[in-house]
Order: sequence, then structure tokens, then C-alpha cells
Amino acid sequence: MIYSRIAGTGSHLPEKVISNFDLEKMVDTSDEWIRSRTGIERRHVAADGETTVDLAEHAARRALDAAGVRPEDVDFIAFGTTTPDLVFPNCGTLLQRRLGCRGVPAFSVETACAGFMYALSIADKYVRCGEAQRALVVGSETLSRITDWSDRGTAVLFADGAGAVLLEPAAAPGVLSTHLHSDGVYKDLLYCGSGVSSGFADKLAISMAGSEVFKIAVTKLGQAVEETLAANGVDRTALDWLVPHQANIRIIEATARRLDLPMRRVIVTVQEHGNTSAASVPLALDVAVRDGRIKRGELLLLEAFGGGFTWGSALVRY
Ligand code: UT7
Repeated sequence: MIYSRIAGTGSHLPEKVISNFDLEKMVDTSDEWIRSRTGIERRHVAADGETTVDLAEHAARRALDAAGVRPEDVDFIAFGTTTPDLVFPNCGTLLQRRLGCRGVPAFSVETACAGFMYALSIADKYVRCGEAQRALVVGSETLSRITDWSDRGTAVLFADGAGAVLLEPAAAPGVLSTHLHSDGVYKDLLYCGSGVSSGFADKLAISMAGSEVFKIAVTKLGQAVEETLAANGVDRTALDWLVPHQANIRIIEATARRLDLPMRRVIVTVQEHGNTSAASVPLALDVAVRDGRIKRGELLLLEAFGGGFTWGSALVRY
């Protein structure tokens, strides 16, 4: 039996930082409101001309370095993003060109904040069936490009960043299971209402009914973590770390409570970068691997929830 395991992680945040105090000067908000309602203290924003693939390339090269894999030896790229550089070629293929791994399958998945969970699930299957040996899984976003900076309901939340992992085959898991869901009935609660086929609006911006999204996210993520443990016959006490989607500290705390997990066992990075959508889970994972909190052999539960709605989770032995 072949499994996939995470051989290396990487992440990258753009240089420019916008603090809550900076936002106070842009919209009717306060540092106190943002911190207490979301946990966010600052966010990073791509420079003019800096793209989703630029951020991804930094994260990918770091993951490859950590895994000891040469960029040209990558044989599969799954790229989660909802803010692609171009209509086509897809971001996976644009990244492939830069890494020099010509000819291998490379594609993007467009499942909003769950983009990395979907990409991870697909890559895991390819490694398990023996069709990929060095699979690069990326989540990268420039949400600042679709944020209305005059809308306090969203401007305080969304930002830019990238994260990546390199999956390799292993005799033991690794990725124990992944679980994906979507429900398009909720489309109107969180969307960016513009596109190639439906036509571009004057203003390309995220629309969100925040408190409705909040309630459904808490419910669906609670169900997702329970589903993930049940599928593996694993008790919640066996978990070493929750690596959640970094959207709102209160959603993270609610999921931790559902698992009876103390917050010191939860990776929280939302204060540093806000909601980076598909980048959020691999970013948090990389931070905790590099600062030594997450160690080899530990059991991790990963989860994310976003527009669609789409959501997903994974149980991983790191
Ligand atoms: O990753 C994709 C999934 N997205 C999410 O998970 C986001 C989910 N939603 C949230 O994180 C939260 O709902 C928000 C952070 C967006 C909002 O927090 P909330 O506790 O649900 O606040 P609310 O929308 O119920 O608004 C409470 C009050 C309102 O004022 P009134 O009507 O009580 O007078 C808002 O107008 O806070 C006001 N408000 C703000 N005040 C200062 C809303 N945004 C702001 C703001 N600064 N930025």
C-alpha cells in the first residue's frame, strides 16, 4: 500500500503590511473592533504588479528546499486559488514554467478558501495510486485585488499570501484521509460577482453576509472535524494539533471547543495575515513546522471553509 506524506512545507507573505491602525484611516473601524471580532492585527498586501504566482513561487521553492527536491523534479502540481494571474494558462502551469518541470500535469482548483484542501486531496490520490512521486500542492492568493477597500465589512478581513507542501510516497501515512464538501445553495452569502462568462462589473469585489457565513462556517467545520475523526476511528484526544483555516479567531475557537482541544494545541496565525483564503492552511502549517511546534510523527487535523460554500478537512500524520 502506498500513502502520501508531507516531505516539506513553505510559505510566503508579501512585504507590504497594512495594520488595523492603517485601516482606521481608510474606513470607519477600530483596531479594538477588528481584534476583538476577528483576531486580526495586520495583513500583507502584494505590491503593484506582484501576482498570485509570484507569491506561490516563493512558497513552493521553500517547500522544495525543505523536502530536498529539485524544482525540475516535481512531477505534479495542484494549485488552489480564487485570484488567478490570468484567465489562462492556469496558475499551476504558470508555476510549472518557472520551476522548469516541463511536461508534468499542472492545474488550478477554484474552490475559494477550501482551495488548498481540494488540491491536497487530489494530489494525495495521485501519489497513492503511484502516478505522482513528487507532488507540489499550493494555495496562493492576492485577495487584495478583489477587496473593496471602502467596505469595512470585508476590507478588514482579506489579504494576500501563499503556502505550499511537497507530497512524496511513503510506506505509512502521511495523509490518512481527506474529506471534501460543497453546497452551492449558499452562493449568495459569499461571492465575487464578476467573471468572464457573466461579464465584468465596474468594481471587482467580494460580497459577504458576514454573520450568516460565520454561523454556517462554525456548524460545517464542527461536522467536518467530527467526520474526519470518525472516518479514521480516531478519538479527539489523539490529536496533537488543529491547523485551521485562518478566517476569524472566534470560528477557530469554536472548532477547538468542539474537539475539546486547548488553544495551545491550535495553530493560530490569523493575527499576522488575516484571511488569505486558499493560502491560509499551508501558511499556518509552515509557520508551526518552522518554529518547531509541529514535529515529525504528530497527528494534525487540517480544515478550511469558504465561498460556495466549499469546505474540506484532512487527518495527517506529519
Ligand atoms: O474564509 C471565508 C469565510 N469567511 C468567514 O469565515 C468570515 C465569517 N464572518 C466573520 O468573520 C464575522 O461575521 C465578521 C468579522 C465579518 C463580522 O463579525 P460579527 O461579529 O458577525 O459582526 P456583525 O456583522 O454582526 O456586525 C456587528 C456590528 C454591526 O453594527 P451594528 O449593526 O451592531 O450597529 C456592524 O455594522 O459591527 C459593525 N461592523 C463594524 N464595526 C467596525 C461591521 N464591520 C465593522 C468593522 N468595524 N470593520
